[in-house]
Amino acid sequence: MIICKSPVEIEKLRSSGRMVRQLLGEIREQVHPGVTTLDLEKFVVKRLKELGARPAFKGYRGYPCCLCASINDEVIHGIPSDRRKLKEGDILSLDMGVVLDGYVGDSALTVPVGAIDESAQRLLNVTEDALELAIDKVRLGNRLGDISASVQEYAEKNGFSVVREFVGHGIGKALHEEPQIPNFGQAGHGPLLKEGMVFAIEPMVNAGGAAVRVLDDNWTAVTVDGGLSAHFEHMVAVTRNGPDILTRL
Ligand code: MF3
Ligand code: CO
Repeated sequence: MIICKSPVEIEKLRSSGRMVRQLLGEIREQVHPGVTTLDLEKFVVKRLKELGARPAFKGYRGYPCCLCASINDEVIHGIPSDRRKLKEGDILSLDMGVVLDGYVGDSALTVPVGAIDESAQRLLNVTEDALELAIDKVRLGNRLGDISASVQEYAEKNGFSVVREFVGHGIGKALHEEPQIPNFGQAGHGPLLKEGMVFAIEPMVNAGGAAVRVLDDNWTAVTVDGGLSAHFEHMVAVTRNGPDILTRL
């Protein structure tokens, strides 16, 4: 069942979503060559304490950290580590969730470390644009498949591929609610969008093939062919006035 949220609940989700986005902005300021992903995790731990919010990821199915920090061919769920030092030319996906007043915020973005290749920049742009185009499908009268198909079509039209094994999701009091929101599918299929539904839409786009595998740490997902992967995520509510991006500052 897809849980529809009241206007009061949507404002709570907006507070959580904005906090995540604010923190992602602060983290990205600290992304420089030489910094480790554990440095970024430590910063998040400190800031969450100051803000009085709880991490949504730490302890979720045993995930050990507040932040997911995934470098280059890592797709998602990279575990922060003092052995992972950022270097010029890397791309870094930062994904974070908080719980504030019982409601979960979840958002992600991928940032360059120093100067990056034109091809890497194009992957970031296409993935972020795929998210924006998908958000525009969050309208009454549309169906879930319109969101999924939009991501897939745009990514593939640009010569990239979409990850099949990980998906976006409904969000509310729980990090993962129904429905699952794949980054591939058929327009015109799936449930009709209803007022008050809130979706975490999160395209994961690979420069090479779509295939991914999970490393021995049981979390880090990497591309099988070693190609780069990018990830962006926003929370969006369905309203009678169109998409309401709860993670927009
Ligand atoms: N944004 C991802 C998701 O919604 C991150 C989850 S990390 C986990 O699935 F540790 F919480 F699983
Ligand atoms: Co998510």
